[in-house]
Amino acid sequence: MITTRLSSLTVEDVPLLERVETITGLSFWGRENYIRFLRDFPEYFGTKAMVFADSARGQFAGFLLARSIFENLEILKVGVWPEFHRRGIGTLLMKAAYAEGIRRGCERCFLEVRKSNRGAIDFYLAHKFVLSGVRRNYYVEPVEDALIMERSFQGFGGTPQGAGGDGGGTGKDARNSAHPGSGAEKRCEAHRRDAKDAEN
Ligand SMILES: CC(C)(COP(=O)(O)OP(=O)(O)OC[C@H]1O[C@@H](n2cnc3c(N)ncnc32)[C@H](O)[C@@H]1OP(=O)(O)O)[C@@H](O)C(=O)NCCC(=O)NCCS
Repeated sequence: MITTRLSSLTVEDVPLLERVETITGLSFWGRENYIRFLRDFPEYFGTKAMVFADSARGQFAGFLLARSIFENLEILKVGVWPEFHRRGIGTLLMKAAYAEGIRRGCERCFLEVRKSNRGAIDFYLAHKFVLSGVRRNYYVEPVEDALIMERSFQGFGGTPQGAGGDGGGTGKDARNSAHPGSGAEKRCEAHRRDAKDAEN
């Protein structure tokens, strides 16, 4: 049986991010930036997913990086190792981010995604995001528009449901999982430090 366990992303995990980002087509922001965000800026937070199969040693399967700024939760990155796609791991990571965002007082969640990234767009649509705008030529290498997508947390009552709002329960591997702690030291802040110009 495969079990997925979530925990907070820490600076020790940063070397793992480069590999998963390369393989999933995300752009790596640089170790120094990740370390700085996770260590120095409480508005940034992240979650990693480890998959445990037969052995006790877990395998890094994906991560999510987000930041909370007042009522807004922004998903900056989400990437799942390809061999674990469509097993609910991305959904678990999103649910953990929603829970932490709501705990910090966020009322909505938004993100940017490459216009051509159909798989990710469908993933976000499954998570009840809607298209709210377009940033022309936002991405580089290659130059491409970004779609801005957002969803509200209204009606969640602090217990966000999964993709499609059905609370999961599909029997996928990742539904058998543990969520990370709430990270009580974190809080919503107004800092806006953009490494993000790089991409999502
Ligand atoms: C987007 C991504 C994080 C999704 O992770 P995942 O663990 O595969 O997602 P889940 O298994 O939780 O998917 C939940 C639902 O989202 C939808 N979905 C997810 N990936 C999809 C895809 N490639 N095509 C269509 N729908 C998709 C489906 O409705 C899916 O439910 P189903 O499998 O029961 O049909 C993953 O595909 C990934 O890492 N992609 C590369 C990196 C990337 O593009 N990140 C986003 C940058 S903005």
